[in-house]
Amino acid sequence: AEIIIVDTPADAGAVAGAAIALLVDRRPDAVLGVATGSTPLPVYSDLRERLAGRDVSQVRAFALDEYVGIARDHPESYHSIIDAQVTVPLGLTRGLVQVPNGQADDLEQAALEYDAAIRAAGGIDLQLLGIGTDGHIGFNEPGSSFASRTRVKTLTPQTRSDNARFFASVDEVPRHALTQGLGTILEARHLVLLAFGESKAEAVARAVEGPMSARVPATAIHLHPHCTVIVDRAAASQLV
Ligand code: F6R
Repeated sequence: AEIIIVDTPADAGAVAGAAIALLVDRRPDAVLGVATGSTPLPVYSDLRERLAGRDVSQVRAFALDEYVGIARDHPESYHSIIDAQVTVPLGLTRGLVQVPNGQADDLEQAALEYDAAIRAAGGIDLQLLGIGTDGHIGFNEPGSSFASRTRVKTLTPQTRSDNARFFASVDEVPRHALTQGLGTILEARHLVLLAFGESKAEAVARAVEGPMSARVPATAIHLHPHCTVIVDRAAASQLV
């Protein structure tokens, strides 16, 4: 992977935002892979300014994952978050932005349909990724197969406690998620993994320096020919 160390999350947002804007210039119907959580927020705020005034009505987007067990209109569902943080502020066309259907009665079918929709769109051009303190990408928790497709995963106690800040208490954090698999993520043409802060330093070092292991799902990036890792100094602090 190409490692870019920046001073601030805003600088990282500018680097990733510039790559996305370039892609959209070249390809007005670009397919973006979008992530939730705190990490991608500087990218979305950069894009708000960078894409202002451009025609993004044909841009398509697929989210990485969605909680299972909360309503679609729950304010912390990734459906709600992507709408509020990506679709509306960037002015994307709602019907072209997809999030896995974590509320489906048949989650296995919903997972198959999600992978099929990504394929039908011609694949993802650029996939934004955060990284969990336990080394997950998407919600591919430790033990995930590098060949995995979109499916239901059980969130680890670590991930649930990391995400408790978005809910009234840790008990309200869903226990499962529907997530793109590592194999799905690896099919994106360009991966852009971002991480900020001391709390991500160990996960970043393990992901970037290996060894490759299903225990650190983010080590899947070693299988990808075009991966850019953008970190601030704190997140880079355990890199050799
Ligand atoms: C979000 C996602 C997760 C997060 C990761 C880091 O769609 O798939 O892998 O990127 O949990 O979360 P933050 O950015 O909140 O630290």
